[in-house]
Amino acid sequence: MKILVVGGGGREHALCWKLAQSPKVRKIYCAPGNAGTAQIAENVPLAIDDIDGLLQFAEHQAVDLTVVGPERPLIAGLVDAFEAKGLRVFGPSREPALIEGSKAYSKELMRDAGIPTAAFAVFDDLGAARDFARSQAYPLVIKADGEAAGDGVVVARDFEEARIALHAMMEQRVFGASGDRVVIEECLVGEEASVMAFCDGETVVPMVAIQDHKRVFDDDQGPNTGGMGAYAPVPSMTRGISDQVAQTILQPAVEAIRRTGIPYRGVLYAGVMLTADGPKCLEFNCRFGDPETQVALPLLETDLADVLNAVVDVELDKAPVTFAHRSAVCVVMASGGYPGPFEIGKPIHGLDAASKMDAVAVFHAGTATREDGQPVTSGGRVLGVTATGETFVEARERCYAAVHRIQFEGAQFRTDIGKRAIQAP
Ligand code: AMP
Ligand code: GLY
Repeated sequence: MKILVVGGGGREHALCWKLAQSPKVRKIYCAPGNAGTAQIAENVPLAIDDIDGLLQFAEHQAVDLTVVGPERPLIAGLVDAFEAKGLRVFGPSREPALIEGSKAYSKELMRDAGIPTAAFAVFDDLGAARDFARSQAYPLVIKADGEAAGDGVVVARDFEEARIALHAMMEQRVFGASGDRVVIEECLVGEEASVMAFCDGETVVPMVAIQDHKRVFDDDQGPNTGGMGAYAPVPSMTRGISDQVAQTILQPAVEAIRRTGIPYRGVLYAGVMLTADGPKCLEFNCRFGDPETQVALPLLETDLADVLNAVVDVELDKAPVTFAHRSAVCVVMASGGYPGPFEIGKPIHGLDAASKMDAVAVFHAGTATREDGQPVTSGGRVLGVTATGETFVEARERCYAAVHRIQFEGAQFRTDIGKRAIQAP
């Protein structure tokens, strides 16, 4: 098989890495890729939203399957365009991808399908939103409806903070059209988990539950980022709770989407809060998570190409999907200053030594190859260093030993990834 992976972050490197292990996969292309994917795939200089360019490339190279990493091309209708040309593609089509593209759509779907979630209201008018916010208990959560690069959520401690957030989104339009509509919702309390599931429109196969670390500094301090690390499995996600997530969140969502006439095929990602009243859905994403994928795939025992094909062929009920009973920890190494301004072009050293370590995989995110062959930093999140082990203690030790072998100027990373799993009762 020839596979095209769309994207250029740690998630896509992990997808290429896992697909490269399949005896059925003969060639992998990655568009646009990074210095890591270049070692196992052929990077193609096409942007993720150049749908026409990607389509022409896939047709010309007779690609057997295209796998889409980021949400943007999914929400823009890449899957619809590929399917219209008879090309095989893994990911939801434009309309079901709205489950991530519009928070109002997603919340209304949750309500209609009876999925447990925070109480909410949707507003298109600033005055009405402000009046509603004034009448609510605090803290209160304010969300821009559309895509806001993970930034469109404000947990307001009091009405003044809510007022400022609403003004910024709806009047100043700091997220552009994404903030013309807002969702105001109840603040949920509990531990968060990411539950991704393979879905073929009918069958739902959840992956191992994962905990992401969104804040930039240890102990969840500092501003939000795209994700500074992850671990799996989540100890508090017992078998019973995980069945509850599948039965009350994932399956009803897939069922509700199927009733609209367009089945959900791809990965459905539920951000879940484990509250005292049981698991509740915070949000849905229409794709593999990043860095979640960097801990999920090293634990996946099944051939990923088989799973992706089973989804596209609507045969997931016949495909075995198993995860190793091991622990995985991924630490993201970021550029100094991230998520604020940072410099790029810093040479990265020690990659080979770290990659050669037992049960370690170094996934590239924001990296590029200089003309002389030297890998250099090219983004905020630079690398995702993943290690697995029999226990979290072992996985963490391995992971940080690998991290310490890698150097680039200004490198920053959290030192507490996976610690919570060790401390869990
Ligand atoms: P979202 O993009 O909707 O997942 O929101 C990003 C982050 O905001 C989540 O991962 C949570 O940490 C937080 N968040 C979102 N909604 C709520 C809520 N209703 N209650 C508490 N925290 C929330
Ligand atoms: N790690 C969060 C996400 O992929 O959206």
